[in-house]
Amino acid sequence: MTIGAALRASTRRAEALACLVETFKACGIEDPKREAGITLSAASGVSPIALIVAPQEPLGSAARKVEEFAARRAAGEPLSRIVGKREFWGLDFTISPQVLDPRPETETIVEASLRLLRDRREEPLSILDLGVGSGALICALLSEFVHARGVGVDVSAAAANVARSNVEACGLAGRAEIRLGDWTRGLDGRFDLIVSNPPYVPSADLLRLPREVRNFDPRLALDGGIDGLDAYRRILPGSRSLLSGGGWLMVEIGAGQAADVLAIAEQSGFVDASTDKDLAGLDRVVAARSP
Ligand SMILES: C[S@@+](CC[C@H](N)C(=O)[O-])C[C@H]1O[C@@H](n2cnc3c(N)ncnc32)[C@H](O)[C@@H]1O
Repeated sequence: MTIGAALRASTRRAEALACLVETFKACGIEDPKREAGITLSAASGVSPIALIVAPQEPLGSAARKVEEFAARRAAGEPLSRIVGKREFWGLDFTISPQVLDPRPETETIVEASLRLLRDRREEPLSILDLGVGSGALICALLSEFVHARGVGVDVSAAAANVARSNVEACGLAGRAEIRLGDWTRGLDGRFDLIVSNPPYVPSADLLRLPREVRNFDPRLALDGGIDGLDAYRRILPGSRSLLSGGGWLMVEIGAGQAADVLAIAEQSGFVDASTDKDLAGLDRVVAARSP
């Protein structure tokens, strides 16, 4: 039975689960069992353990929501968008339609930061995240650099609000401040580490993105201008005077952008610029140091 056959209040959890697995399999979803479990648990408000312990319980009033969530997933909406949650660096984040769904490859920035600043883990570092979105990156960094303080900036007020509530939920409100702003404009002070995962998709490529990205991530988080490099041309020169001597800048990059971003780093006065690869073996981060 697939989701086309309506779920009822009397449908048992185990039957609903089997129905979701079949539906997701038929749509070509990669891990139908895992996604069916998460969908059922989120829609019915019942923990995954309870689904296992009491599979014969009827869905009750949750039946309609289970059906709605399953239909949205079957239509291609990412599960993280449907349940409004995403895990990043082992932390749980709430996401809204106004923020990028944080990607595992962005964890490469956290790994590079831990490597390049390994001797400074205990220091009261100052960290700036430009284009903070959901707050995933700044929260992950503050969870590792436990004496650091952070500032996150976003031009979207809706994104800044999501970041604030995630900072609070991660217990980091005492060490992080989220501001509305246009990249580095109007910022002062000195930072030991500046990170950014800016929009970097060339405008003409937006329509060719997979539909889970194209239809659900905000354009403001994706559109990098004609050649995808607009944000780097503002962030890198703007960051130089905000970094303390020896401080690091780390930006995420898209496929094929390493040479251009390394060149912008050099023109902006950075030294020791290099790239880090993600788990797929692609250049994903450009890191450079203030002299
Ligand atoms: C690719 S998302 C990254 C979000 C988050 N840091 C992450 O890695 O999941 C880029 C973010 O940059 C923000 N942004 C776009 N233009 C900006 C600007 N001019 N100034 C500040 N933030 C901007 C977008 O609103 C979006 O939240």
